[in-house]
Amino acid sequence: MSDAPSAPRNPQAGLAMRGGGYYSERTRGAKLVIDRALPLAQAAAPPAPGAAGPLRFADYGAADGGTSREMWFSLIEGLRAAGDDREIVLTYTDLPSNDFSTLFRTMQGLQGDPDLAYQARFDGVYVHGCGTGFHRPLFPAGSLDFGFSATAMHYLSQTPCDIPTHVHAVGAEGAAAEAFAAQAAADWERILLARAHELKPGGRLVCVNFGIDGQGRWLGNTGGVDMFGAFAELWAAMRARGEITQEEFARATFAQYYRTQAEFTAPLDDPDSAVSRAGLRLLSASSLYTRCPYEEAFARSDGAMSAADFAASLIPTMRSWSETVFRSALDARPPEEAAALVDAFYQAYEDRVAADPAGHAMDYIHIVLEIEKAAD
Ligand SMILES: C[S@@+](CC[C@H](N)C(=O)[O-])C[C@H]1O[C@@H](n2cnc3c(N)ncnc32)[C@H](O)[C@@H]1O
Repeated sequence: MSDAPSAPRNPQAGLAMRGGGYYSERTRGAKLVIDRALPLAQAAAPPAPGAAGPLRFADYGAADGGTSREMWFSLIEGLRAAGDDREIVLTYTDLPSNDFSTLFRTMQGLQGDPDLAYQARFDGVYVHGCGTGFHRPLFPAGSLDFGFSATAMHYLSQTPCDIPTHVHAVGAEGAAAEAFAAQAAADWERILLARAHELKPGGRLVCVNFGIDGQGRWLGNTGGVDMFGAFAELWAAMRARGEITQEEFARATFAQYYRTQAEFTAPLDDPDSAVSRAGLRLLSASSLYTRCPYEEAFARSDGAMSAADFAASLIPTMRSWSETVFRSALDARPPEEAAALVDAFYQAYEDRVAADPAGHAMDYIHIVLEIEKAAD
């Protein structure tokens, strides 16, 4: 099989989490991660009663907004409780394909838990949406007080090539691995330069990004069964049975890259880099392990939950963010045929977990960064 890189592809037109609230309902782990970031958000946006407003916040790559809603609620509640009555503009950003409609309904209390509908609960809070990707500046220069992003900036602006032998950069080799590393470095610089443009002097960015930690662990690969390895194996088995072609196999390439902490901090560690010269300073960097809540519930049940029930709870959380990759690889087929193949793919994973659940989990590994725009 050739490892020669194919042409770059821009996957963003079709990239989306499943809509209608499916994403945040099936992604409890992502919410747990964001909840753990609340103290960093509070440190980045401390109350300043009497100061001139408005406060401008952004949530980059927010999906349907469900996973970060409690964090934003708590942050705003804390500001108001401390007597900070400045008006707040919170802009949710994502790709144009995102389900912003669910997001706006949720914040107004028309969907989901109305107790957390901060837009309805607090005066002077304005919820805006921005459907432009975060690789470009999204706000006027020097206008943003606090930017937050969770589990989103591992998405690349384009896949530099299809990976012919795997589905994810973590399993890529040779020229494909090098192409993904180069794309990720260029994209990270663009992301940081865009934030340097829009943050106010003294403004902060908190990123909780998927990455590779010091023990070489990443999402779904923390010592047990490697989730992306299982995806690749099951996808290859469909190719071996003649159900999909090699071209379809290769097209299922995640437009993602998990950076190491060193890759994240490189442009901030170098005082001569364009990012440092643009005024960004690294305040802290650390890694964060979050246990898969579905695996944890199964383990805690001590046999009360069947392996089949565990499998039926775990696969939807994987499917909520990965499905579009496999589905769009089959775009040349009639929609019903493509849907049936994708269903069969996830069913095979579920059957595998139900038959032998040991080691299956979607533990999260994040690299947490606190970044500040230097005061002038
Ligand atoms: C896994 S979801 C994370 C959602 C939420 N932040 C959370 O932590 O649960 C990743 C989100 O990033 C968005 N995304 C991917 N590439 C993006 C880009 N270039 N600009 C903005 N959002 C992007 C996706 O559309 C998706 O909604």
